[in-house]
Amino acid sequence: MRIDLLDPESFAAGHPHAQYQWLRDEGGVHWHAEPHGPGFWAVTRFEDVRAIGRDPATFSSEPTIMIADPEGPAGIAFGDHKMMLMMDPPQHTAFRKLISREFTQGPAAKLRPRCDVLARQIVDAVIEDGECDFVASIAGEMPSYVIAELLGLPLDDGRKLYELTEIIHTAHDALPEGAQAAAVMKMFEYARGVIDAKRKQPGNDLSSKILAAEVDGKRLDDFDFMLFFLLLVDAGGDTTRNLVGGGLLALLANEPELARLRADPRGLMPSAREELLRWVSPVIYMRRTAKRDAMIGGKTIRAGEKVVRYFAAANFDERAFAEPFRLDLSRAPNDHIAFGAGAHVCLGQHIARVEIDALLTEIMTRMHDIELADAPEWLPSNFISGPKRMPIRFRAGPRAG
Ligand code: HEM
Repeated sequence: MRIDLLDPESFAAGHPHAQYQWLRDEGGVHWHAEPHGPGFWAVTRFEDVRAIGRDPATFSSEPTIMIADPEGPAGIAFGDHKMMLMMDPPQHTAFRKLISREFTQGPAAKLRPRCDVLARQIVDAVIEDGECDFVASIAGEMPSYVIAELLGLPLDDGRKLYELTEIIHTAHDALPEGAQAAAVMKMFEYARGVIDAKRKQPGNDLSSKILAAEVDGKRLDDFDFMLFFLLLVDAGGDTTRNLVGGGLLALLANEPELARLRADPRGLMPSAREELLRWVSPVIYMRRTAKRDAMIGGKTIRAGEKVVRYFAAANFDERAFAEPFRLDLSRAPNDHIAFGAGAHVCLGQHIARVEIDALLTEIMTRMHDIELADAPEWLPSNFISGPKRMPIRFRAGPRAG
């Protein structure tokens, strides 16, 4: 079996399940070569992926959660400033606390009526056409609108920022030289404008809140804000989009499950959405770095070595899920790890669920006889998985009451 979890080609049609399966069956913790780096441990069994996430004292998120060490877009840091995603406790705990309340279940649930309205508008915009690119016109619209609302930005700007996110997440080699750095710079320029505007006129939004926040009695500075901004725009955009796009693909490939969801979208959605999260697993990996020697899956990890947790590999581990390759929209229990685990578990998970439910419910109710009009095109990335383009045809159904 040829194993290459760095080559975006391995992910060109979705997760490389045959490779994951081999890796899990052969022990679950494997040394993987890295052409431009020292190599890393690929971790593929559920228990190990979860255990590493829960042990930040041994497995650090510093200096970066990307496999490559040199400063790529996600490794961006200014002096001693860094993104929360790449901090360890206690610094991480202090930064996360600044915004975590906005992301708990209560405030997320309050977004539901607004997401229902947005879902309706998104579908309204294409419903009479009978065809569209599902990714650009439907799946991608919701997360960019929602993050714009949370941050207090015009909705259309959310869409522009989200185009930049996609460039940032695309494999380096698939883009013209300098395109990623330029996208990050544009994101920062935009963030700079937000700083100026919100300082002049603070609002009741997350941007204003971050600008007014303090850690250890010290006000966050502009760099702190820009890194928070980049993280929030980046983390919630194509992940949620890919879940909805990849989720619809999974449903189109499984008529009986699709029919079940259509018959009772609201009733089945809570378990259906969790199963689609497990199935699609939009985030491919998160890296940690061992701070001290440790044993994982019977292998000795040395201090300083990179340890890479593969979420979809864990989510299809038969040691953790009965018949993992069967899409079961009422699967219970379903303790998938698509949102990660431990201190860095996805901060936006409750909001993501509200967005996904609103959009999929609207689609299931109003868009009938959906079929692919052309083969979907996958995102060329070894970090984020999902369709980049997905032309579909459909028939308009009645509006939900
Ligand atoms: C289907 C959608 C999503 C998926 C699959 C997803 C997945 C993830 C994963 C795997 C992590 C890292 C967890 C770990 O290291 O163990 C993460 C972190 C994070 N996510 Fe999400 N995410 C989604 C949507 C969102 C949304 C909508 C937002 C914001 C509105 C968001 C904000 C964040 C933030 C801020 C972090 C960093 C948390 C930290 O470092 O403490 N995510 N997400």
